[in-house]
Parts: sequence; C-alpha cells; structure tokens
Amino acid sequence: MHPGRVPVMAGNWKMHKGIHDTGGFVRELAAQLKERGPIATQVIVAPVFTSLSVAQQAAWGSPIRVAAQNCHWEAAGAFTGEVAAAMLQEIGIGHVILGHSERRQHFGETDATVAGRTQAALAAGLVPIVCVGEVLAERQAGATEAVLARQLGGALGGLSAGQVAGLIIAYEPVWAIGTGQVATSAQAQAAHAFIRHWLDGRFGPGTAAATRILYGGSAKPDNVAELLDCPDVDGCLIGGASLREESFMAMVDAAEKRAGKNSG
Ligand code: 13P
Repeated sequence: MHPGRVPVMAGNWKMHKGIHDTGGFVRELAAQLKERGPIATQVIVAPVFTSLSVAQQAAWGSPIRVAAQNCHWEAAGAFTGEVAAAMLQEIGIGHVILGHSERRQHFGETDATVAGRTQAALAAGLVPIVCVGEVLAERQAGATEAVLARQLGGALGGLSAGQVAGLIIAYEPVWAIGTGQVATSAQAQAAHAFIRHWLDGRFGPGTAAATRILYGGSAKPDNVAELLDCPDVDGCLIGGASLREESFMAMVDAAEKRAGKNSG
C-alpha cells in the first residue's frame, strides 16, 4: 500500500446472498465499522442485482459503499438480462465491477465489451472496477504482461487520463480465483508494478500514481497482510472470504492497520 492512495477492500459476492442474507450482513458490517470509528479504508460490497437496494438501505449512514457486478454500454434498449449504468446510479450505486474473468469465461465478455461498459459507467458517474488477469497457460507461457497490456489497452484505451485516475483496476490472476492458490506477494507486486508502469506510459505519471490497483484471487485473512505490504497493491477484491462477516472484517482491519502504519 502507498500512503497517497486510499485503500479499498471490496467484497465480490458473485451469485451469492439474496435480500435476507445481504441485509443482515451489511447491517452487521455497518455495526462493526461503527464500533471502530472513522476508517481510512474504502469498504465496498458487490451483491447480486436484486440485493442492491437492500444493501443500499442497510449501508445508509455507514462508510460501506455498494457496487454492482456489471452494467451495459447502452442507456436502454432490447438487451434482455442487462442493466444500464444510469439505472444503477438512479438507486444510489457508486461502483461497478466490469470485465471479471467469470464474465469473460462464461458470458462472452471481450476487451471491446469491457471498454463499452467502462465508458458507460463513467458517463453515468459510476466508478468502474475493471478486472484484468491472465489464465494459468498464459502465465506459464510467459505471456502475463502481454495479456495485461492487451486487456488494459482494450478496456481503457479510449479514456482520458483524468477518467483513468478515478477508476479502480483489479488484477485477478485467473488461476488464483477460487482455487485457494494465492499469488505470492512477489508475483502480485510484479503484476501490479507492470500495470502501473503501463498506466504511466499511456496516461502519464500522475494517473499512474493515482489509480488504485486491487489484488483478487484467494485473498484471505491469513495472506492479506503480506499482499498489502506490496507498494503497488492498494487493496483487495475478495470473493470467498468476503462472504463471511468475520473474515471480511478481519481483512478490513488488516487494511486499516496498514493504513495506520503508512500514515505514521
Ligand atoms: P476468490 O477470493 O474466491 O478467489 O475470488 C476472487 C474474485 O474473483 C473476486 O472478484
């Protein structure tokens, strides 16, 4: 972590938790955060679409921010099963996860569709959390940086430096997602440093220094401190470990501890 960037701990709940579980979780998380007083970390939860409003209500007055897991590139139209960015903004959603590897793998998401969704999110005033990451075969072939450069160029190519500085990138090596096999801190730092270097080359040093880059892929309470010690890791996008209040809160606490260390 770097003192110049606000850390983020974001829970991607994928297709888990309906309205009952979401409401209970967010209320409990809000209560625990209240006990801790003001926090430096941005805490985000990303429930399924049907649970967004309940999460918003439960998060009211707390530092918790609610993210959606996708949005479409058009404002309206014949796109069955999709939700427009402005529709999310209308119910108070501030962030949206885009280009997650599960969408790329199972739902035909491409660099071009991620770009369209990212532009629409920004136009609606949402903060995109743009996911990139290589599959195992690409890493083994030494192609990690080429894949990251292609995905970043595809998703962010048409944006201004100012727009990129305000969004969040999540580096999620696909081989680490849901496998229990976390990237080593050296692997995570190398990929994050590459992403920041790429941002510098394309958008300049100010943007590279400002953009938050989260790590995702089997991040857990027992490995999060090591990940957060990497200078270019600004937080985590957490799947499995964000589904239980205890483990998610432990990871928020770890970020807070690091933030305190940085500012001290
Ligand atoms: P896990 O933390 O379950 O590996 O999932 C990571 C992820 O996909 C977050 O978006």
